[in-house]
Amino acid sequence: MPAIAYLECSRCHAHLPADTPQTVCTRCKDQPAGALYVRYDLSHLHGTSPREVVGDGDSPWRGMWRYHAVLPDVEPVTLGEGWTPMLHSRRHPGAWLKEEGANPTGAFKARGLALAVTMARHYGLRKLAIPSAGNAAGALAAYAAAAGIEAHVFMPRDVPIANYVEVTAYGAHVTLVDGVISDCGRMVAERKQQEGWFDVSTLKEPFRVEGKKTMGYELVEQLGWEYPDTVFYPTGGGVGMIGMWKAFEELEQLGWVKPGRRPRMFGVQSSGCAPVVKAFDDGAAASTAWQNPHTAAAGLRVPKAYGDYILLEIMRESGGMAVAVSDEDIFASIQDWAANEGILLSPEGAAATAAYAQLLSRGVLDPSDRVVLFNTGAGLKYIDVIASALHLKAPGQT
Ligand SMILES: Cc1ncc(COP(=O)(O)O)c(C=O)c1O
Ligand SMILES: [Zn+2]
Repeated sequence: MPAIAYLECSRCHAHLPADTPQTVCTRCKDQPAGALYVRYDLSHLHGTSPREVVGDGDSPWRGMWRYHAVLPDVEPVTLGEGWTPMLHSRRHPGAWLKEEGANPTGAFKARGLALAVTMARHYGLRKLAIPSAGNAAGALAAYAAAAGIEAHVFMPRDVPIANYVEVTAYGAHVTLVDGVISDCGRMVAERKQQEGWFDVSTLKEPFRVEGKKTMGYELVEQLGWEYPDTVFYPTGGGVGMIGMWKAFEELEQLGWVKPGRRPRMFGVQSSGCAPVVKAFDDGAAASTAWQNPHTAAAGLRVPKAYGDYILLEIMRESGGMAVAVSDEDIFASIQDWAANEGILLSPEGAAATAAYAQLLSRGVLDPSDRVVLFNTGAGLKYIDVIASALHLKAPGQT
């Protein structure tokens, strides 16, 4: 595992040291301050082949830690996150579904928070706080419990019940907020100094992106160390897309993948909360906070992503686009993939599959295009939400 050389600002490219906990860039002249990327000296890996370096079946490095050669050199706090299935669609010959619901806590959030909590333990931090749409809170609560660190989670009151139950069981301090994730974020920001909390909000510390970059390594490895043509990623705060793009940059620097053919990145949002889609369509460099956000895809109810400027850059540079789908299309896609593929998608994952169907029918994509669709969470985490959409009551309930 490599030592961290420095942290690099995504806006002003200043270098910050990583020997103490960092949040966002302290050198940026303009607000908001840039998110920080973790940088290593990977020169010793140049000229290697990934098969020599990446952990295989006999290696003690399992799950996302198979990429330990490109992750910080610290003792992991792990619950078995990563190396999730890449499932070939039974109906669409060009489509693969990355099943992130197989992660601990049933969502891709486990990757980022495994690394954030690993680093928090390394730095000796004792109290972590997070504003969350639900799944990030569940993941923080689980990894904090495993590490013996306090977790303070702030979630909307109408969060899916699974998130409320899991954070409570993991022993986190829970605050339910009448509002959305940005209201939760404000509460964390107001109280963190006085309470001694370290804020692990999306992009307000560097290691959640670093954990999520393993999705980029994995999807390339699982496709035989080749890029797909297109990636569909349900985008709230967008950390997964930012992490994957960082992985592609590193893979090319390492010589593990040929440069020049990166996938087109498609960010998918719900039409009830689509600030990034609007900014993309308007040709804007950043988004404007979405008013009255509403969608059953809880993780997509993010009125303004902190890293919107990075997402817009990635989608444009890659030749991708931002796509909105309705909640109706989301629930239709959940039923479609459950009945025809045997996969119960989360509403966020179903936003990706619905967007794929939309672009196929609009002729923007061809069925032969190699596409990776991210199911970012397990449908079972949304059992109340899906039951309500299907007009189902608990058996025995009148
Ligand atoms: C299942 C699921 N998918 C997607 C998202 C959006 O993730 P990101 O904020 O990384 O864009 C979330 C966020 O809560 C989520 O829980
Ligand atoms: Zn900066």
